[in-house]
Amino acid sequence: MPHDFMPGLAGVPAAKSSVSDVDGQRGILEYRGIRIEELCAKSSFLETAFLLLLGRLPAKSELDQFVGDITHHRRIKYGIVDLIKCLPEQGHPMDALQAAVAALGMFYPGRNVKDIDNNYWSAVRLIAKLPTIVAAYARLRRGDDHIPPRDDLNFCQNFLYMLSERAPEKVWSETLDVCLILHAEHTMNASTFTGMVTASTLADPYTVVASSIGALKGPLHGGANEEVVEMLKEIGTPARVRPYLERKLKDEQKIMGLGHRVYKVKDPRASVLQSLCERLFRECGPSPLYEVALEVERISAELLEGKGIYPNVDFYSGIIYDKMGIEVEFFTPIFAMARVAGWLAHWFEQLRENKLFRPDQIYEGEHNRPYVPLEKR
Ligand SMILES: CC(C)(COP(=O)(O)OP(=O)(O)OC[C@H]1O[C@@H](n2cnc3c(N)ncnc32)[C@H](O)[C@@H]1OP(=O)(O)O)[C@@H](O)C(=O)NCCC(=O)NCCS
Repeated sequence: MPHDFMPGLAGVPAAKSSVSDVDGQRGILEYRGIRIEELCAKSSFLETAFLLLLGRLPAKSELDQFVGDITHHRRIKYGIVDLIKCLPEQGHPMDALQAAVAALGMFYPGRNVKDIDNNYWSAVRLIAKLPTIVAAYARLRRGDDHIPPRDDLNFCQNFLYMLSERAPEKVWSETLDVCLILHAEHTMNASTFTGMVTASTLADPYTVVASSIGALKGPLHGGANEEVVEMLKEIGTPARVRPYLERKLKDEQKIMGLGHRVYKVKDPRASVLQSLCERLFRECGPSPLYEVALEVERISAELLEGKGIYPNVDFYSGIIYDKMGIEVEFFTPIFAMARVAGWLAHWFEQLRENKLFRPDQIYEGEHNRPYVPLEKR
């Protein structure tokens, strides 16, 4: 049956799902039916991960068990630490994360994805170990020792501790926790779709997540948050925003952190992140980048009026991580630490009624060409 070709598969459903839903016209994002604003105010990243994976909020005992399982599995084998040590210092952390996650699977031979119990433990290991891998690469590449996780610290406290060797102030770990909730899931985006294509071959979950990490890296997806901070630093002051934006738009270049395939209003995640910025900068001192960002939002609304281009999730997240003293190259790995929950939720869902992805194409090449011998070309 012939179909219209939709570049980028825009608007083409690739799966039936009940993991999350976006209303791009009204700016609503729900995980398993619950608005993200409510989860950010009342939940935690690990509780949200449970919700995404299993489709319901956990009872107290279930949450305790899940948090305990994650805490127990945060360590990484010394073979993985050694592998990370051997990677080039100037490499990108997303490449290091992808390599380490692919290698992680080799340490856990239970690869039969039809074994539901084993799949739960794979999901636990992946959610638990990604932060340890990210922090290990951050330290090892600058010549510092890897810091193993501390069981008395919660998920976000522990990640910040493994980065800096200091238990963080409450405001930092709480802010990071909300950032992780906001990045945990977002319907059929490029990295989720990539993971589902890999999962449809019944590949193991480490391979699924490694392929999703590869897709997340690109600047049109997760990588945009790095470019936003670089752009804000390049602009420097609010007074320089207008000429910068005018020049970019004249040269038909995109403004990073603005626009979205689905949202035609301001991304609700950007609004929550903006409130987090306000709280953080009130408690910990102002950020010059935030002043520039506000001006970019204001002036771009004027210059791009009517086009439905507003701040997306990447617009304000980098400013928060920058204030925490996290290097720009680690912004996307933090995104991956959160999104792994969503990838795995779609993986669980896909395995229930798996069908190998094998789309069609519209062939535009020639037929019946003769093979010209080498000496006659
Ligand atoms: C995310 C993105 C790829 C989605 O865009 P899309 O649905 O594929 O839409 P298009 O890229 O085709 O853009 C549609 C129109 O809006 C314009 N536009 C989209 N995003 C823009 C931006 N950030 N700055 C300026 N113009 C933009 C395009 O130039 C195009 O204009 P035209 O119709 O005059 O040619 C795009 O908005 C973008 O590249 N944004 C910057 C990168 C970014 O922040 N990515 C993170 C996404 S969460």
